[in-house]
Amino acid sequence: MKALMSLLSFLLYILLLAESSEISVQEKMLLKALGLNGKPNPVIRAPVPAKLWAIFEKGIQKDNPCKMEGFHVPGNILRSYRDQGRPMSNEGQQGSLCLRKHLFFDITAVEKKEKITLSQLDIKFGHNVYYGQDFQLRLFHVIQMSLEGMRHHKKNQKLILTQSFRLLHKSLHINLTKVTEEWTKPHKNMGLVLEISQTGANYKNSSSQCEQIHSFIHTSLFTVSLDPSNCKTSRVKRSTTTSLSTTSDICRKRNLYIDFKDVGWHNWVIAPRGYMANYCHGECPYPLTELLKGTNHAVLQTLVHSTEPEITPLPSCAPTKLSPISMLYYDNNDNVVLRHYEDMVVDECGCK
Ligand SMILES: *[C@@H]1O[C@H](CO)[C@@H](O)[C@H](O)[C@H]1NC(C)=O
Ligand SMILES: *[C@@H]1O[C@H](CO)[C@@H](O)[C@H](O)[C@H]1NC(C)=O
Repeated sequence: MKALMSLLSFLLYILLLAESSEISVQEKMLLKALGLNGKPNPVIRAPVPAKLWAIFEKGIQKDNPCKMEGFHVPGNILRSYRDQGRPMSNEGQQGSLCLRKHLFFDITAVEKKEKITLSQLDIKFGHNVYYGQDFQLRLFHVIQMSLEGMRHHKKNQKLILTQSFRLLHKSLHINLTKVTEEWTKPHKNMGLVLEISQTGANYKNSSSQCEQIHSFIHTSLFTVSLDPSNCKTSRVKRSTTTSLSTTSDICRKRNLYIDFKDVGWHNWVIAPRGYMANYCHGECPYPLTELLKGTNHAVLQTLVHSTEPEITPLPSCAPTKLSPISMLYYDNNDNVVLRHYEDMVVDECGCK
């Protein structure tokens, strides 16, 4: 195949053409390149957090795909994890305790090569009626699972945060970067315990508001991480775009749209539905002109080819400028992921 495209687009393109028997191998390669250990099959299809949509819609900084819009830390992957923990019994607690809940976020999708640069716990309250009521939030890092569940929790968990609040604001954001880094080590992720109690002068026994807090609370975790392997800093230098006659068969960019539906990925890729991947195709004739954006090496190669055509082939038509795209998808754990992928789109071609 003479046409050259970026590696990921090429693998996608192969998927389009492959016989069904070949697909599994090709697809596995492609999914691996995208940082997935298998094809996701989302069951829950949690709604996409508004924050992720907003960042996706802002798009990608083409010259810096290792930065997420709106964050001051490096990163090219943003994940939102749903809470898989369960409410815990309040037994043995003083009457002011409204809620005791185990929080658990499955972060196994984070690969070894990734560095977590930010992790934030979001606690949202779906109701805003508790004016004037003071609450206290306590958050514990579970460091050991006891055999009898978490009854004797004091020994097995470490208090990491105490915060007073009123349910006037709808959400609390807690920096969990350190704890989440710890969770990436094997068998270290045992989650958190969240306690909310009533405090202050207005505290009345068995307030129904306090009991109802269960139904209004929603917790989620999101992380920003950096995959350095998808983060080359050296970009191919930009050259002035010159349009070539479209009828010639000379090396140039050709349009190619890859629709995720055609490769059977539409049930887990949330957005985009497809993208303009493009490819390079055409001849690199002698003498190589400025128009073909030949590298110095390619110019030399055509010269050598003209004298020794049997030994040295002509340069080939290949991408000289590529750009990244963002993808929003469900991963294998039903988490929502926004990820920047380098070199997905061929912008310019030349002779190399
Ligand atoms: C408040 O609750 C505690 C423990 O649940 C109980 O012992 C006490 O009698 C209650 N006080 C009132 C005023 O209801
Ligand atoms: C979050 O915590 C980490 C580690 O404790 C710290 O380096 C970082 O600056 C904090 N980030 C924010 C936004 O507060």
